[in-house]
Amino acid sequence: MNIPSNRDFCKSLPKIELHAHLNGSLSEKTLTELGSSPDDVAEYQRLQRTPPEGRNLSDCFKIFGFAHKATATPEAVYLATKNVIREFYDDNVIYLELRTTPREEVGIMTAESYVEAVVKAIQDNTYDILVKLILSINRQHSPELSKNNLDVILKLKEKYPNIIRGIDLSGDPHKGNFEDLKILFETARKNGLRTTLHCGEVKNDEEVSQILEFRPDRIGHAPFLHPNYGGCSKNWNLLRMLKIPTEICLTSNIISGTTKSYELHHIKEWIKHDLPFSLNTDDKGVFHTDLSQEFERALKYLHIKNEQILEISSNSVNHSFATQEEKNKLQEKLKEWVYTNCNF
Ligand code: IMP
Ligand code: ZN
Repeated sequence: MNIPSNRDFCKSLPKIELHAHLNGSLSEKTLTELGSSPDDVAEYQRLQRTPPEGRNLSDCFKIFGFAHKATATPEAVYLATKNVIREFYDDNVIYLELRTTPREEVGIMTAESYVEAVVKAIQDNTYDILVKLILSINRQHSPELSKNNLDVILKLKEKYPNIIRGIDLSGDPHKGNFEDLKILFETARKNGLRTTLHCGEVKNDEEVSQILEFRPDRIGHAPFLHPNYGGCSKNWNLLRMLKIPTEICLTSNIISGTTKSYELHHIKEWIKHDLPFSLNTDDKGVFHTDLSQEFERALKYLHIKNEQILEISSNSVNHSFATQEEKNKLQEKLKEWVYTNCNF
């Protein structure tokens, strides 16, 4: 029998992406198509390729500026979303939860027309990939702006309940705090949105504790949660008790410098203690990656076996914000692929 290389296995595997920011996922090709100047694209490439030692989390946040400049009209947002969906589809992603922050460009685009453009691109998708939308609250925004964005999110969730499935807390972890925004997430939950919160991207035990106590459906990253990685036992024990699924983004953590190396990644503790997690890209444009490569790195550096990769994919379906019927279909697709491609 021909044993496929890790690359072929990971590329061909039908994949589930649960943590992808729209404007962090733009390829250089899309930036160019959207009219970014050659200088901007060159700078974007330079930042993408700067080794982790040469930059920090704040430098990574500067890169989003290039994408935001290119997606400043509803037409550009629509095209960007279409391209991102197609690129995930080309990587054999069968289920994509895209997330994005509603954004106003004065005189050109309202937060509502921004989200409408993203939804339209999702509705117009003809590729065999199921796409759902999570809308983000940026921790850097003022509470007033976030409250306005929540109003837009709730209004459009009513209009597109099968597309807009969740709400996310993201943005520069050095800025703002969850406690001030908690009320918005409680309101969102009451209105039927699922919740996922970026958590512990910098050392902040108090906030991590508040986030876990909120009991979101999922958390993102969590590099500073385990006591061996700068977190505290109280929070780690709480996570072990609650078993909240964690969205892991290996390359993002390495490049933004929150994790020292793939080999020493905090996910090892999740594996050791059998805690639920998914593997994701975060910002495939900014971090110059794709989901196949993330799986390949998990096989290579974390000594995960192919069987475990299948288990992670199947668990990711369960952690997703799709409906039960959609989850069943996705599980069927995974099983079919295993039946035709694997003999273990
Ligand atoms: P957008 O929401 O589609 O505009 O995607 C880019 C935005 O996602 C950034 O401006 C950040 O607010 C957020 N983001 C992307 N990656 C990260 C991350 O690793 N941590 C926290 N926020 C992030
Ligand atoms: Zn993220």
